[in-house]
Amino acid sequence: MSPDSKKLIVNKLINSEHGLKKLWDLYIVILTVFSSIEVPARLVLDFPVNYWLFVVDLTVSGSFMLDVLINFISINPDLKGPQSFRVVSRKYLSSWFLVDFLSAIPFDLFLGGSFTYVNKLLRLLRLLRLLRLLRVAQFMNHLSSSTRSLNPVYLRLAFFVFWIGLMAHWIACGWIALGWGWEEDITRTRLYLRSLYFAITTLTTVGYGDITPSTNAQTIFAIFAELIGAGLYGYIVGNVASLLANIDVAKAHFTEKMEQVTAFLKYRSIPVDIQQRVLSYYNYLWDSRMGYDESSVIEELPPSLRTEVALYLNRDIIEKVPLFKGATDEFVREVVNVLKPQVFTPGDFIIRKGEIGEEMFFISSGSVEVVSEDGKAVYATLGEGGYFGEIALVNREPRTASIRAAEYCDIYTLSREALYRMLDRFDDVKSQMEALALKRKRELQGN
Ligand code: CMP
Repeated sequence: MSPDSKKLIVNKLINSEHGLKKLWDLYIVILTVFSSIEVPARLVLDFPVNYWLFVVDLTVSGSFMLDVLINFISINPDLKGPQSFRVVSRKYLSSWFLVDFLSAIPFDLFLGGSFTYVNKLLRLLRLLRLLRLLRVAQFMNHLSSSTRSLNPVYLRLAFFVFWIGLMAHWIACGWIALGWGWEEDITRTRLYLRSLYFAITTLTTVGYGDITPSTNAQTIFAIFAELIGAGLYGYIVGNVASLLANIDVAKAHFTEKMEQVTAFLKYRSIPVDIQQRVLSYYNYLWDSRMGYDESSVIEELPPSLRTEVALYLNRDIIEKVPLFKGATDEFVREVVNVLKPQVFTPGDFIIRKGEIGEEMFFISSGSVEVVSEDGKAVYATLGEGGYFGEIALVNREPRTASIRAAEYCDIYTLSREALYRMLDRFDDVKSQMEALALKRKRELQGN
């Protein structure tokens, strides 16, 4: 959240990112959805307008009018550069103003005169409120692209169901308007339910044929409804299936990888205990980072973005390792770019005594033991924030001890070249590391 999103008024304009403005937008969306159901239904079913319905209608018109005014003075997220009342209102006049204004006119207020044709026209004009649905579509698009807490696929599915439901309602209303041969004394509820039944059987291409068109107008209407139904069917087969399959891309990707690995382990007859260790490593990878390999994702980014992402991803390790905590920003920015995450499972030997040192290690989570060559004597245990493997690199000598993972460990490695480059430039880090290397070596010699 940017600091500005906390203020309702920014530069004398209403801040579209503010919670209150978002709540207002949601309120308008709810009123629009209500209108898109109520207006066509009232047009065809001609139900009496009681006091409450009249009040609700006026509230809708009043709120839509107020929304027009609010939009004149709200920051427009689509506009680039500095915004002022002049810029914002001009943009609004040339874009959504007409739609918003037409849908806000309270035609209901003029209803009830003695001219039936005028009344009919006014009731038809109320349909202009449906224009606002264009705004709802925009709102939904915005929501699916900006939401972080919900999987956008679920949102898209929910919107899809919403549009199909609305379409069925409109087809039912159209069918009533065309007056299919219903009985004289049919109630409004039954009339609507039977028409909705027709709409849904036609849209879903089930078409039992118990309600059929007879006049030309009805036949043409039914043809259109069938075409829409066929289109929807194609859309569902083509899109919803893939939407559902993609709900959990990460999990699907990971499961596929696990299957490949298991097949390989079996094919090469790897011993069962090693197979189990490999699989539990993957399970840990899934639990700790949803199976993603962070470094390969980061490597595709341009350098500046890579540093930002790396700084964020590695903020834990920077906080935990005392050596980094006291270091300059410059050092931290440089080091995060060259750290590579690795996972070790319990019992893994990370370092073997006598090997040539290629890298050093920083512990992000878990703990390791400093052990003798045969692994029997434990000299020390290092936990979160600790580092090891520096003696071989600083003194340019073989590894002085072995290191074994005591549990699952998230560890960052720093290559020898990267370390030397850093030590050349940052003297204080160099002296700290040399002092610790000396102290540890003495301790080892004491053992
Ligand atoms: P290196 O010699 O490269 O590889 C083994 C590592 O174990 C060594 O670097 C140190 O980082 C670490 N180590 C050795 N002795 C101790 C100790 N007494 N306490 C903590 N860590 C140690």
